[in-house]
Amino acid sequence: MRHYHQYDELIRNNARWAVEKLHKDPKYFETLSEYQKPPFFYIGCSDSRVPIDTYTQTEPGELFIHRNIANQVSQTDMNLLSAVEFAIETLQVRHIVVCGHYECGGVIGAYRNDLRGLKENWTTPIKDIIRSHKTELDAIADEKARLDRLTELNVVAQVKNIFKISDLERLIEAGGYYPRIHGWVLDIRSGLIKDLPLPIDEWKAEGVVPTTYKET
Ligand code: CO
Repeated sequence: MRHYHQYDELIRNNARWAVEKLHKDPKYFETLSEYQKPPFFYIGCSDSRVPIDTYTQTEPGELFIHRNIANQVSQTDMNLLSAVEFAIETLQVRHIVVCGHYECGGVIGAYRNDLRGLKENWTTPIKDIIRSHKTELDAIADEKARLDRLTELNVVAQVKNIFKISDLERLIEAGGYYPRIHGWVLDIRSGLIKDLPLPIDEWKAEGVVPTTYKET
């Protein structure tokens, strides 16, 4: 049985945590509050089981974060687009990470076609991925393995969408600023991050990735 905190405990935990931080470094919050210059922009799923700070042991100030159901990168999502704009123009992050996770309710729901309401609209792009990779997915006999593969395909598709954001394309083409872009899957069954291979050369040939983009 999983333990859930009581509401009051959240406030008490916070107070204790702040005291501990100050104990280790009396200037911790003073320094933290001065500015942010995070090296990483993280786009992940809203799922409560995937707080990436915990999995990567990162501190406040290191990750600029955007999360939504099934880690979608949508060209019409003002929330995402403004976060991307801020991350690349102002923060000039060194890395952009799109991260999915196995057992994702959004991916599974899209696959089984049992999401209703706005969630169904939101995950429509995943249904397109299922259709365009039908042969590959149908060849995987085990359903869990098939959903895992779909989760990976979703991440790769969303990374590709990142490259399609005109702001970023323009910055890369102008040269001088090259954020490295990564696709991850968080395996919540093991707690480990899987860094997915990305078909960057293929995307360059398609014209999606500027030829000047460097992977390293
Ligand atoms: Co999810």
